[in-house]
Amino acid sequence: MQKYSSSSALGHWLALLLIAILFALGLLSHGYSPETKNPDILQSHIFLGIFFLVVSVARLWFRFSTKKPNELDTVNKSHKILKNSVQWLLYLFSILVPLAGLNIILSSDVDLEIIENHPELLFSQATQLAREYHEIFAFAFLFLIAFHLAGVVLHIVRTKTNILKRMWPDA
Ligand code: HEM
Repeated sequence: MQKYSSSSALGHWLALLLIAILFALGLLSHGYSPETKNPDILQSHIFLGIFFLVVSVARLWFRFSTKKPNELDTVNKSHKILKNSVQWLLYLFSILVPLAGLNIILSSDVDLEIIENHPELLFSQATQLAREYHEIFAFAFLFLIAFHLAGVVLHIVRTKTNILKRMWPDA
């Protein structure tokens, strides 16, 4: 079975880890109010979100600059179209969600240096629309990830081929 390169595989699992942490921090900071004394949650969400954007751009660059393993022979034509569409949408949303997050900062009229120390101001000053876009994109992204995961699990169960090995870095 042909495999993805170790760097592609590491990028893939790092992205999953970051997404899990970002969702948890995002949901925790949701109830954040200016009265809350600890701005660390939102600050960490912003910092990790920027890191995730860098990782996502690097993954996309890798996708175009390295050779992909051959398509699985257990995948038929229509299945291949669906699988590839979901994968490209995952790349797209990996960029779109953090960009929509940055747009929240840009849409607020508070200076960047002030936001760094008082991220809670984003809740009162940023436009509601920018926050809603970020949230809608994030949940659409979550849906795509669930769809992708279901596809992987179904494929393993139906064809009894462990395709996870293709996405595992070499030791
Ligand atoms: C538990 C969660 C996940 C599992 C088990 C999983 C598993 C896999 C596997 C096995 C492949 C290789 C498919 C093949 O052999 O062709 C793959 C590809 C891919 N996965 Fe995931 N994945 C998960 C989460 C994610 C997440 C969160 C993202 C989004 C950032 C993602 C994005 C992708 C993309 C874009 C590809 C295609 C790589 C390419 O061909 O360019 N996956 N995944």
